[in-house]
Amino acid sequence: MKPVLFSSGIIGTGSYVPEKVITNQDLEKIVNTSDEWITSRTGIRERRIVNDEQATSDLSTIAAKRALEDAGLNAEEIDLIIVATITPDMSFPSTACIVQNNIGAVRGAAFDLEAACSGFLYALNVANQFVATGFYKNILVIGAECLSRITNWKDRRTCILFGDGAGAAVVSRVEEGYGFLSHYMGADGNGGDSLNLKAGGSRLPASMATIEQELHYIHMDGSEVFKFAVRIMASAAEEAIKRAGITKEQIDSLIPHQANIRIIKGAAKRLNLGMDKIFVNLDHYGNMSAASIPVALDEAVRSGKIRKGDNVCMVGFGGGLTWASNVLKWAVDTE
Ligand code: ACO
Repeated sequence: MKPVLFSSGIIGTGSYVPEKVITNQDLEKIVNTSDEWITSRTGIRERRIVNDEQATSDLSTIAAKRALEDAGLNAEEIDLIIVATITPDMSFPSTACIVQNNIGAVRGAAFDLEAACSGFLYALNVANQFVATGFYKNILVIGAECLSRITNWKDRRTCILFGDGAGAAVVSRVEEGYGFLSHYMGADGNGGDSLNLKAGGSRLPASMATIEQELHYIHMDGSEVFKFAVRIMASAAEEAIKRAGITKEQIDSLIPHQANIRIIKGAAKRLNLGMDKIFVNLDHYGNMSAASIPVALDEAVRSGKIRKGDNVCMVGFGGGLTWASNVLKWAVDTE
C-alpha cells in the first residue's frame, strides 16, 4: 500500500484504566468460578472497572489528553476525533462529540465508529486515509469501553473476561518511509449471532421484558468465537505483513487484541512468531474490546518495547464478526 500524497503514522499515544481492580478471587465470591479456571483458560488475573460516576467519555478524555501531550499538540490542532466503542455514553450525541467538548478540540469534527474489538484498528485505517490524502493533518483516534456496564455479573462464562479502559493515538503526517505500511479489514456478518447484545436498539427497544430476559448484556458463544479468533488473528496479521511488502521475520512487535492468552498463543504458533515479539497485558486488564489494542500499544511504547524504525503489526477480531490488522514503521523516538 502506497500513501497517496503524505506518509501518515502515529506520533503520540496515551491510555487510562480505572483505579478499581477486580481480581479473580473477587469473582470467586460472585459466581461459581476459580482463579485456577480463569487463569488457565484465559490468562486473565484481574481487570479494571469504572466507578458509578464514570462513563466511556470520561476514560476517553483522560487517554486523549495523554496522547495529545505525548504528541506535543494542543487540542485546537485536532481536525477530527474518532471514538471506537460498543459502550458509548448514550446512543447520541456520539462519545466523540462529548470528548471534543471535554478537551476543547474546537476545530475538530467528531464521530463514533463501531466494529467491536476491531474498532480501534478500523478507526486507525479511516484516520490514515484522511491524513494520507492531505484532507486532515491531525486526527485523534480513541478506543474506549465500559464493558462492565453491559456484562452480566451472574454469568460466569462472560463476566470473567471483560474490563474497562481507554487508549488513544494521534495520527499525523510523518517522515517519508515511516508510518502506515499497510492496512487490512474484513467482516463476516453471517457470524454475528455468536457475539452480540440483543436489546436496546431499534430491533428490540428497552422494555421490562428485555430486562427480565437479560438481553442488555453481552451474549457470546465462547467456543465459536475462540475457533474464529485463532484462525483470523493469524491470517489477518499475515495479510497485513504481505501488503506491507515485508516478511514475518521483519516484524519487531506484534500488538494483538487481548482477549485470551490461548488465542494469542494459538495465533503466534500459526504465524511461527516467538512470544518475545508479542505484547501481552491481558493478565492485568482482561478483554477491553476496542480499548485493548490502544492500551497495549501505549504500554509497549512507554516501556521502550517499540522504538523508532521498528515494524509494528497490530491485529484484532471482534463482534460483527469483524477483523483488522495493519503494519507501521514506527515514526517517532520513544526514549
Ligand atoms: N469458571 C468455571 N467454569 C467455567 C467458567 C468459569 N468462569 N466458564 C465456563 N465454565 C465451564 C463451562 O460451563 C464448561 O463446563 P461443562 O463442560 O460442564 O459444560 C467448561 O467450563 C468448559 O467451558 P468452555 O466454554 O468449553 O471453556 P473454554 O475452554 O472454551 O473457555 C472461553 C471459555 C474462555 C470463554 C473461551 O471460549 C474464549 O476465550 N472464547 C473467546 C472469547 C472472546 O475472545 N470473546 C471476544 C469477545 S469481545 C467483544 O466483542 C465484546
